[in-house]
Amino acid sequence: MTLALTSPVMVASGCGGTGRELAAYGALADLGGFVTRSITIAPRAGGPAPRILETPSGLVHAVGLQNPGIDQFLALELPWLLQEGARVFVSVVGRSLGEYGELARRLGRTPGIAGVEVNLSAPDVEDGSVFDAREPFHAASVVAAVHRDLPRGTPVLAKLRTDVLRVAEVARAVLDAGADAVVVGNALPAAMPDGRPAGLSGPATGPLALRCLTEVVAAAPGATVVASGGIATVDDVRSALRNGATAVQVGTALLHDPTTAHRLHAGIGEDEA
Ligand SMILES: Cc1cc2nc3c(=O)[nH]c(=O)nc-3n(C[C@H](O)[C@H](O)[C@H](O)COP(=O)(O)O)c2cc1C
Repeated sequence: MTLALTSPVMVASGCGGTGRELAAYGALADLGGFVTRSITIAPRAGGPAPRILETPSGLVHAVGLQNPGIDQFLALELPWLLQEGARVFVSVVGRSLGEYGELARRLGRTPGIAGVEVNLSAPDVEDGSVFDAREPFHAASVVAAVHRDLPRGTPVLAKLRTDVLRVAEVARAVLDAGADAVVVGNALPAAMPDGRPAGLSGPATGPLALRCLTEVVAAAPGATVVASGGIATVDDVRSALRNGATAVQVGTALLHDPTTAHRLHAGIGEDEA
């Protein structure tokens, strides 16, 4: 199944807020997709402050998967995004395979979503409250659980960690388990100055994510691959597309300049004109 995006530029999970913050800077409907922050069954309050620090190589963040939980999300956030005409990919994360299945069933009963993105790595949450999907077999089990409980025709994107050494192996496993696309990658495992687990996003992740992309494209020819990590300029988008990506996700760059996704969408559109 293809993702059938109208633009190759998407908003990365957790970097576009609820969408309302971003909509002030351009129509969400113009973009290829809006990936929500990762949604869990129960609400999560997130980690203590400070949650985000700027460093020369990018943002270090320990948001801790703050989200309102699936009930509130479906009641308050999703309807607004759909009404704006956004192609919404709901990112999900669970404690267990059972929770992933439950999230898929809830989303499967919700008309209008463009797809489900399965978050297989949360580098700032390492307290056992998220299913450990580092091993290819475990990652594949998560994708199979989500795939099984979604209606046919709802694309499943598997978001992999930026692990250059194992990404090809994990990608093959999740594609075999029914993923329609893989997203490479996520924030890198890092730490806050006080030692709390954190993610590192932004410029430093770009070349690593690009290497993950080339590894996956070589290992799984023909697979739909979406690039995430350090995308900030039209040249970054071109490079990802030239190296086999179908689309890109813009994350940290949006926190610096909320017009970035729309600028990249316009810039790539000019290439095609
Ligand atoms: C503040 C912040 C919050 C994030 N929250 C999530 C999240 O909830 N789920 C997820 O899969 N990725 C999350 N990410 C990771 C991004 O979606 C993206 O994969 C990563 O930051 C690499 O891309 P970038 O360098 O363009 O930011 C978050 C990143 C940042 C900076």
